[in-house]
Amino acid sequence: TALRIGMIPADGIGREVLPAAQMAIEALGSAIPKPTFIPLLAGWEEFQKRGKALPDETVQILKNECDGAMFGAVSSPSHKVEGYSSPIVALRKHLDLYANVRPVSSVPGQKVDKIVDMVIVRENTECLYVKREKISDLPNGGKIAIAERQITSTASERIGKMAFEIALRRGQERSESTWEGWAHAQPKVTIIHKSNVLSVTDGLFRESVRKVGEADPRYKGIKIEEQIVDSMVYRLFREPEYFDVCVAPNLYGDIISDGAAALVGSLGLVPSVNAGDDFVMGEPVHGSAPDIEGKNIANPIASIRSAALLLSSLGYYGPAARITSAVDRVLLEGKHMTPDLGGRSTTTDVTEAVLKLI
Ligand code: NAI
Ligand code: MG
Repeated sequence: TALRIGMIPADGIGREVLPAAQMAIEALGSAIPKPTFIPLLAGWEEFQKRGKALPDETVQILKNECDGAMFGAVSSPSHKVEGYSSPIVALRKHLDLYANVRPVSSVPGQKVDKIVDMVIVRENTECLYVKREKISDLPNGGKIAIAERQITSTASERIGKMAFEIALRRGQERSESTWEGWAHAQPKVTIIHKSNVLSVTDGLFRESVRKVGEADPRYKGIKIEEQIVDSMVYRLFREPEYFDVCVAPNLYGDIISDGAAALVGSLGLVPSVNAGDDFVMGEPVHGSAPDIEGKNIANPIASIRSAALLLSSLGYYGPAARITSAVDRVLLEGKHMTPDLGGRSTTTDVTEAVLKLI
């Protein structure tokens, strides 16, 4: 069998870093089924050329012909443009990628104050992102704007299950590893909410996730904790080593994951995967970075790590670990660093250094 991966570089440095992900997968050789990469169109430039940010063909090929995908980055304009909407948001919807999983960990070899080794599991489909907003006039001449927030037990349970599965897997990895430096002995899932104020919506989220964790005997070894989102942020900045797997509704997840990324030094290091039951798509957390586009200095590591996440989501744990540890060794040596990490290497140099070690 072959492994068919849709490649959507989209815009800006997405095009410079996605080839690195492809080469990292190719470098695995016979450790995985022979990969075929299918280049697919999407993005702002595609919208300007042909009027559609996400061509139907791209969605059809992803659905019918691919085992998984990689997405680069999109340049969304900051003003409203008629007919344009973000292709990444649309892709998550079309492919039912209901979880955004972001592992954030300290960089080996880089001086850090705190060891960070956490995974943020963000619900990707509801909360305030249902975008049901309205504005109307008040009798006093003022205006009132209202946004509806949707939380369902179904979406909360499935994101909960994803979080517990990830915690289980991390626990297994730690017990199989000889390394003693893990921040967490026992796997832990922290449920992030604000149900002291939003007792109905966040209350439902919290209870649904907890129920999943308590019902399945496979999750018995996982500690379940809860933390109110504001105090979670305080703790994240003071003792990030405390957290293992954190599961959150969409908006809290968005905010805390960008905060966590800042703790480890560069956006160019942080990978993610958009996951559903039938499909996974790797995606570096960063955007299209117009300020460094075309200079061959974008850090390819977030993209390469996203490829590893894609592979582990598809069940190829060993090959994924080979990519991850090659990246770690390059960072530890510190000889091949792009400018965002204080080095002078190019995208090509860093990619080649990683490929050699894979
Ligand atoms: P950005 O993530 O593109 O850049 C923020 C800063 O980080 C810039 O200084 C950039 O040079 C640096 N940076 C980002 N990735 C890097 C890498 N791999 N190596 C070295 N440095 C890196 O965010 P910004 O500037 O706010 O947005 C630029 C465009 O990207 C916008 O059009 C925005 O809509 C889009 N964007 C797209 C995302 C996506 O595709 N999922 C996510 C975030 C932003
Ligand atoms: Mg964000």
